[in-house]
Amino acid sequence: MVKVFVNGYGNIGRRLATMLSADKEIRFMGVAKYTADTKTKDALDNQFDIYVPESELGQFRNSNYKISGTVEEAVKQSDIIVDAAKEGKGFDNKKSLYEPLKKAAIFQGGEDRCGARSVADMIHNSSVNYAKASGKSYVIQGSCNVSGMGRIMQPLAEEFGDEIERYDVTIVRRWADLEDSKEMRDSIEWDRNPHHQEDVKDFMPTANLYVEAYKVPSRMMHLHQMLIRFKTKAPARDRVIELLSKQFGVAILNSAIGSADVRRKALTLGFQHGDTNMVHIHQEVMRVQDDVLKILYTDDQTGMVIPENHLLLQSMVFRRPKEEAIKKTDALFQLSRKKRILEEEFK
Ligand SMILES: NC(=O)c1ccc[n+]([C@@H]2O[C@H](COP(=O)([O-])OP(=O)(O)OC[C@H]3O[C@@H](n4cnc5c(N)ncnc54)[C@H](OP(=O)(O)O)[C@@H]3O)[C@@H](O)[C@H]2O)c1
Repeated sequence: MVKVFVNGYGNIGRRLATMLSADKEIRFMGVAKYTADTKTKDALDNQFDIYVPESELGQFRNSNYKISGTVEEAVKQSDIIVDAAKEGKGFDNKKSLYEPLKKAAIFQGGEDRCGARSVADMIHNSSVNYAKASGKSYVIQGSCNVSGMGRIMQPLAEEFGDEIERYDVTIVRRWADLEDSKEMRDSIEWDRNPHHQEDVKDFMPTANLYVEAYKVPSRMMHLHQMLIRFKTKAPARDRVIELLSKQFGVAILNSAIGSADVRRKALTLGFQHGDTNMVHIHQEVMRVQDDVLKILYTDDQTGMVIPENHLLLQSMVFRRPKEEAIKKTDALFQLSRKKRILEEEFK
């Protein structure tokens, strides 16, 4: 059985651990903790084995939390590591642990694809380049925004091809995740150089895409306004809705009035971690204006990338055809069922 270790237990790491511990095809080795805080207890309560860096053993011994070994030992015993480190630390982990021990790894969207601290030569987006990851040793799973953009843009590119002139996306980002304790500043901040544009172009190199990103004091998902300019007239709304409604992990909603409605609904419905794990098109504000199609959608920032990591594992490790992988991921995350429920709740 393939042995998988999660290096990091933050907002993404804990979700990855839930997913991997539920997948019967995988032997889940446990998680890494770097700080002996209350999240260590959370991991132990969830029956996850905890590994800590050798340098932090003293800190954990003093705290009395039960430790199963060091991160170095866990990496040695595993076949592949899903790195869920704080942004940028994945590169250091690759150099100090994964490469010397010849272990494959998946990195998250906060790592660099290019430059001196690049961790991999591709960014995965299951809607676009699932098969390209097959058998690779190092791959980045695109961030939530990048995953969401690929999921909407790829079917449009396949359907309308050269008729599309350009895409302009404005991302409105949440300040913090629900679980974060950090304070939110009463401010709207702009991003001098949003990484999303280059990240999406990594897997959709011919897309004429321009991205701006703003951070707002909210914890409730991300909102994307995507404008698609066509060479002549934009297609009819119904045709676009029909096309997007067939996509895996895309829900078409009609009556939410804000991102918090969707997040709260996921929490009320008891979805694991309060995640929908998908993007939600708000069809009542989808507009066709002459040569421009305007799509507004919310993107479950924390949950979105977890099924994507699962699909990526299936390509890298099991080299499974995409259709088969989607069935496995759907069975584990109940994405089709959640989509039906959300569409009914917000019809
Ligand atoms: N949050 C999101 O919505 C989101 C969405 C998509 C992608 N991502 C990406 O996912 C990655 C993780 O983000 P996050 O939101 O989960 O961050 P987070 O909540 O801040 O958690 C980061 C974790 O990294 C651990 N850590 C510290 N040093 C480490 C090291 N050297 N190696 C491994 N782990 C280390 C920390 O452990 P201790 O707590 O024990 O110190 C902490 O649990 C980032 O690349 C981020 O860009 C995040």
